[in-house]
Amino acid sequence: MSAAEVPSAVPSTTAEDAGAGPAFDVLAGSFAGVEGTQPVRVVGRVSGLRGMTVLVQDLPLPVGSLVSIPQTEPSPGLTGGRLGEVIGLSGSRAVVMMLGALGGVRAGDAVVGLRPQRTVGVGWSMLGRVVDGLGAPIDAGGPLHNLSPRAIDPPPLPPMRRRRIHAPMVTGVRAVDVMCTLGCGQRVGLFAGPGVGKSTLLGTIARNCSADVNVLALIGERGREVKEFIEGSLGSEGLKRSVVVCSTGDESPLMRIRAAMVACSIAEYFRDHGRRVLLMLDSVTRFAHAHRQVGLSAGEPPASKGYTPGVFAAMARLLERAGAVEPGPGRAGGSITGVYTVLVEGDDLTEPVADAARGILDGHLILTRQLAHRGHYPAIDVLDSVSRVADDVSDESLRTARRTLRRCIAAYRDVEDLVQIGAYARGSSPEADVAIDYWPRINELLRQGSAEREEFDRARDRSVKLAMEIAAALSRPARRVG
Ligand SMILES: Nc1ncnc2c1ncn2[C@@H]1O[C@H](COP(=O)(O)OP(=O)(O)O)[C@@H](O)[C@H]1O
Ligand SMILES: [Mg+2]
Repeated sequence: MSAAEVPSAVPSTTAEDAGAGPAFDVLAGSFAGVEGTQPVRVVGRVSGLRGMTVLVQDLPLPVGSLVSIPQTEPSPGLTGGRLGEVIGLSGSRAVVMMLGALGGVRAGDAVVGLRPQRTVGVGWSMLGRVVDGLGAPIDAGGPLHNLSPRAIDPPPLPPMRRRRIHAPMVTGVRAVDVMCTLGCGQRVGLFAGPGVGKSTLLGTIARNCSADVNVLALIGERGREVKEFIEGSLGSEGLKRSVVVCSTGDESPLMRIRAAMVACSIAEYFRDHGRRVLLMLDSVTRFAHAHRQVGLSAGEPPASKGYTPGVFAAMARLLERAGAVEPGPGRAGGSITGVYTVLVEGDDLTEPVADAARGILDGHLILTRQLAHRGHYPAIDVLDSVSRVADDVSDESLRTARRTLRRCIAAYRDVEDLVQIGAYARGSSPEADVAIDYWPRINELLRQGSAEREEFDRARDRSVKLAMEIAAALSRPARRVG
């Protein structure tokens, strides 16, 4: 399904090629301009349509190649021009899916091979900008300058080049920083149903986190939501140090897939310049849907719930692109921390995409509708949420505090139903008694307005103090009994 899996005549632009330094950027631009062009002009002919794809005769190009169907009559307003991508083969014909609208394609039309590699131009001028799945700006900020090309589907990072996670990534959201501390280079899933507050939480994190650069990929959202997110949740302050890549649900599935991969390439560019990058992808589920559409069109057999096997391979490849790297020659050692939203209907975490994501990621935050209904925002269920690196990136006092708070929250959960109907008899469980007493203060710690920002040190001190009080209260009845 991807360019990198198919042998190609032209070397690919790897992470190494796009090294650090402005001089290199300029040279790399020229080299890759030459490398990226199709060495021999290949022209095929449209010989049929099948669903959303065009079948092309005499187009011996590898899967992943970019092609163009030149228009005989120009029609303004077509996004992506008449660009397409080879997504598979059917007999001796190439299966091409268009990046824009399919309308106007006729039998016998010429199909010209453009590039065997999928690349995107990236650079510092992208900061504060909103771009589409081809990396082209879609805001009012004019053209981008000084871009150097990067492969959008580079070879996977060798395991030995990855760095272990040891530094915390502060999100500015207490419930996360205290209960599920994230690390620089970690990949975490944000699992929630629609309308539970994912976008709002991503916006809050983008504004308040300790990352140098945010890359936000909005995949398959409704057009209205994109503006709402950029102007409402992210705001001008958040946008300043962010790059937003978006592809709405009405675009071609190929554009949605590209947008997700392009976002990763942009994040990798900043990572290789030594920056701590926070990559947020909303949502992986819609990326998987787009891949399913392409896979089925290319003739892949459906497996679980209509998802083709290629979907899970593509997901693994996409999510594996985050991580921290060791510095190397011509490359600083930055990190990409990935936050990926996954849509779950009901509480169905066994749905194929959610299940696959949980297997790949090293942590998950679960937002629940029950909490959102009660106006408890961010609606993070801290007992069900896990950050696998939390203990590695927190000091001893925070680790102890977290354990105490978890134990207390669990004790409250056990008796919550009884408490709510007034049937809990005090004294039945000393631990539950303490949990009930401290419940308002625990809630105060976990709830946070979307505009409220709290420094990590303050949040930690506050939770350590609260946990110490709880621990003291817990030891009191025990002493009396003894
Ligand atoms: N931190 C918050 N404080 C108050 N209300 C919130 C908060 N987060 C979400 N909401 C409410 O939930 C609604 C849906 O949030 P949104 O982030 O768009 O959800 P999703 O992206 O999961 O669909 C918002 O319109 C808002 O009313
Ligand atoms: Mg949303």
